[in-house]
Amino acid sequence: MSIIRVNLGAKSYNIEIAAGLLDTAGEKIRSISKAQRAAVISDSNVDALYGKRLQAALAGSGFKVTRIVFPAGEKSKCLAELAKIYDRLAEAGITRSDLVVALGGGVTGDLGGFAAATFLRGVDYVQIPTSLLAQIDSSVGGKVAVDLPAGKNLVGNFYQPKLVLIDTMLLKTLPVRFLHDGLAEAIKYGCIRDRALFEKIAAMRDDDELLENIGGIVERCCAIKAEIVEHDEFDTGERMVLNFGHTIGHAVEKCSNYESFTHGEAVGIGMLLLTRQTELFGLTERETAAAIYDVLKKYNLPVDADYGNEELLKAAGMDKKKSGSSITLVILKNIGTSFLQKTNWQDLPEYIKRG
Ligand code: GLY
Repeated sequence: MSIIRVNLGAKSYNIEIAAGLLDTAGEKIRSISKAQRAAVISDSNVDALYGKRLQAALAGSGFKVTRIVFPAGEKSKCLAELAKIYDRLAEAGITRSDLVVALGGGVTGDLGGFAAATFLRGVDYVQIPTSLLAQIDSSVGGKVAVDLPAGKNLVGNFYQPKLVLIDTMLLKTLPVRFLHDGLAEAIKYGCIRDRALFEKIAAMRDDDELLENIGGIVERCCAIKAEIVEHDEFDTGERMVLNFGHTIGHAVEKCSNYESFTHGEAVGIGMLLLTRQTELFGLTERETAAAIYDVLKKYNLPVDADYGNEELLKAAGMDKKKSGSSITLVILKNIGTSFLQKTNWQDLPEYIKRG
């Protein structure tokens, strides 16, 4: 097992990573909480797979457990579903000294975390992420949110968990498309901070070898994220490097109405398209985009989306720009080294250009 400490003063916590952690979650959580009750929040898919196991593990350590289940899918990350969760937390008699456990992927972590951040003005919570994307990104760093009809993550907070438990065995039930979806974010960590990680992912023979080595990959990604969050908890500087590929990625997701592309797939396209342009401008070393293209192809991740430049720019918010304002782009110097560049909105079309 490996333990990564996220050092945030009084808000510090551990990320524990091992295969098979789910069944020992009761003891692990008992070691950081005196709660009598635990409310486990998960979606209908994850609850069916793991809800009872986690309930048994928690009950074995003396927690009185209530399972709160919402319908699987991004559509549930909304105020209406949040209101139902508040009602269930109240019915279960959750007090400020009790605990919320978010068991699931990114939607569950964001929704369950936001419920924990706001119910009774804040209840302790633990993240048990079940998707690769959640294990290496959304469960770490305390970003919690729900969507509004006007856009994703428009209501949220920074609210750090008390513990993150990552059981890499859970990835074995993840459909391959979602394994690769998460892998796109792992490739992103390699791009922005760690050439060796990028090369390790690129060198895997196949998905079997990838899964055999996934613990080390998750560990490295979490260590990078922990370090970045420690330096910039509230996302006003360094943490923005985590957005590499996300300006175009979010635009691709929006153009597809959040249907044709997963988040990781869209980010992969974003990393590649931006890096092609920055290579042309001499900001990025040659062959960097080719290396990204090869690794995306290797894992059947898309390398382009059929949207015009104007459409992408509009989706990236270009139509709403205020004159004189700028956007911060994350640009690679090479694989493993990134930097932030404030870019005027009027120059954005040069960076968002499909070839
Ligand atoms: N997912 C990016 C961040 O946590 O800042």
